[in-house]
Amino acid sequence: MARDKSLFTCSNCGATSPRWLGKCPACEAWNTLVETAPAAVPGESRNRLSANHYAGLAAAQPVMPLAHIEATEVARTPSGLQELDRVLGGGVVEGSVVLIGGDPGIGKSTLLLQLLDRLQRQGLPTLYVSGEESGAQVAMRARRLGLPDSLVPILTEIQLEKILASVEAAQPAVAVIDSIQTLYSDQLSSAPGSVAQVRECAAHLTRLAKATGIAIVLVGHVTKEGQLAGPRVLEHMVDSVLYFEGDTHSSFRLVRAIKNRFGAVNEIGVFAMTETGLKGVSNPSAIFLSQHSEAVPGSCVLVTLEGSRPLLVEIQALVDGGGPSPRRLSVGLERDRLAMLLAVLHRHAGVASYDQDVFINAVGGVRINEPAADLAILMAIQSSLRNQALPKGFIAFGEVGLAGEVRPAARGQERLREAAKLGFTVAVVPKANMPKKPIAGLTVHPVERIEEALALVRGL
Ligand code: TYD
Ligand code: MG
Repeated sequence: MARDKSLFTCSNCGATSPRWLGKCPACEAWNTLVETAPAAVPGESRNRLSANHYAGLAAAQPVMPLAHIEATEVARTPSGLQELDRVLGGGVVEGSVVLIGGDPGIGKSTLLLQLLDRLQRQGLPTLYVSGEESGAQVAMRARRLGLPDSLVPILTEIQLEKILASVEAAQPAVAVIDSIQTLYSDQLSSAPGSVAQVRECAAHLTRLAKATGIAIVLVGHVTKEGQLAGPRVLEHMVDSVLYFEGDTHSSFRLVRAIKNRFGAVNEIGVFAMTETGLKGVSNPSAIFLSQHSEAVPGSCVLVTLEGSRPLLVEIQALVDGGGPSPRRLSVGLERDRLAMLLAVLHRHAGVASYDQDVFINAVGGVRINEPAADLAILMAIQSSLRNQALPKGFIAFGEVGLAGEVRPAARGQERLREAAKLGFTVAVVPKANMPKKPIAGLTVHPVERIEEALALVRGL
């Protein structure tokens, strides 16, 4: 029976227990015990290892100085889907494990089927393991993608041991597991999708990838809170973590690398969902701007830097009469940061908003984490408060500190040049980002403090 083989391990201190407990007996943390596969040595807890414990289990392996190890370049296969190759750091790396997360319906299965089809057509053996959809459903998607002749092999299976055996036998160069939450291992009694199952299945697949050189792509679902369902530990186990972002109501999709052992993090790939699948958008800088015919209050365009490319994103703010407990809501921007910026606005610019609801939004479902958005957020808030639009063709970027200082953003020149290229004419930027040579068509105002910046735009 699987049940009596189970073991529960505290994710906090590593202590084990034969049954589930609410509170860890060793470190007294609550709800930290998760089911794990049985320990290799029965009766021996991880906490009580003697000094020569491992000597009896295996022969010691030789160790080598770094200088004697040949540094080889990783073998990478570009898929030809340029935007995806860009996020992966140039292509699919042999033996790597990539986790792709995102909301249901955002396009994970579509993108991965397109990827495998491309690779298969290049002569690389692939395998698509579908735990969610039947073979017929996947075939239907392939037809929709205009790939009715696709030769990508499909396996519909959810039991881990069978999948491992099939992958090992098929020896593909790249395998997709759609999704990790549907898999279950016979070794554990918990249900598919539980923390223990997800972790166990991912660990086995990772081991297989490393042992055989097969690249494995795991699809992971995201919970309503935007976290990958299951443990965050998945992110630590794999080589790269990619997230799909974007508003399912708009056609644009961003794929962002939040971890990449073989490339740059925060690199993004931009796609448009079309009737025939995801198409790369090679020049995406203007897609997150809404097309107002007239300048409107509460809107400020930010030039943000996503990976290696500048991106222009409209930041919208609405400040409206609240009650005794006003709301602060943000979509696509950090809420804690908003609270901080409102405090800075009050203290250093004398603008109070404690009796007002404040809403901010980054247009198009894009998520912005960089502090360089601060200045544009405050400009949009002031504009909404005064019900006065910023001038047409206006952009801003820069971080705002608690002392009210405006700090420079990385690669300011590049941001300004991109804005000028898209026809923007006025910019307010941190003093250190002032370009040395003028940029044709763009008037740049350098600022050092937030009150100075806000006063300046009131006069524009
Ligand atoms: P899907 O890849 O199934 O999403 P996920 O695996 O992330 O859950 O995406 C499906 C959505 O994309 C669905 O709403 C239909 C739409 N779609 C298109 O618009 N065009 C297409 O060519 C395909 C295949 C799907
Ligand atoms: Mg899917």
